[in-house]
Amino acid sequence: MKKKVVVLTGAGISAESGIRTFRDSNGLWEEHRIEDVASPEGWHRNQELVLDFYNQRRRQVLECKPNRAHIALAELEQKYDVSIITQNVDNLHEAGGSTQVVHLHGELLKARSTKDENLIYDWPRDILTGDTCEKGSQLRPHIVWFGEAVPKMDEAIPLVMKADVFIVIGTSMVVYPAAGLINYAQYEIPKWLIDPNDMPLPRIPNLKFINQRATVGVDYLVKQLLEQA
Ligand code: OAD
Repeated sequence: MKKKVVVLTGAGISAESGIRTFRDSNGLWEEHRIEDVASPEGWHRNQELVLDFYNQRRRQVLECKPNRAHIALAELEQKYDVSIITQNVDNLHEAGGSTQVVHLHGELLKARSTKDENLIYDWPRDILTGDTCEKGSQLRPHIVWFGEAVPKMDEAIPLVMKADVFIVIGTSMVVYPAAGLINYAQYEIPKWLIDPNDMPLPRIPNLKFINQRATVGVDYLVKQLLEQA
């Protein structure tokens, strides 16, 4: 049976595809206030502003391609059972070929009803005021905003508990509950963290830090894991 690799990714893995991160210098949250564009309160205050913010993000993602890191994680499936848990709302893991991807914070290329959260649509274009679901209510971005529940945690936690190897790539690990997932990994399994910037490392057993950008660090680690398998 193939060993299970579980990977938690953040904005850093898509940085080299040209998508801005949130908290680096020149990150998105330097220019936009979270409470204006990524909260239920912001949506109620100014729907147009929120739609515009995510329409810009969506247009940008549609122009981006997966990079070596996304593609290497897909290649890892040749010899491992790989689950990706991503905080990213882009589709670059899927575009890179990964087949098991859990989007903790939603998906930019989908829209959902504001009346019935189960009505979710593929939506690879702008969401405009007046675009409605089949029950007639305005569509919103299919994004988990600050202050909202993260239902995909119910899928993510059991995956992490089953991991034989756990890898964290390109996340500042400050947004919960995603940042707490590492605590569900079994004590004895190898854990890797890949990030080009120095950061306070979680106090977790068997954790190794690869201080590289994703395209370099993930390529290196995937080659090593494929050789070991
Ligand atoms: P952040 O912007 O907080 O962190 C990005 C991380 O990527 C940092 O640790 C950087 O050092 C690292 N990084 C930068 N360039 C990199 C590269 N080339 N290769 C690898 N790593 C690199 O992004 P997230 O941790 O993903 O949520 O943010 C978590 C959540 O906060 C996001 O999902 C988003 C945001 O608010 C919502 O919008 C709900």
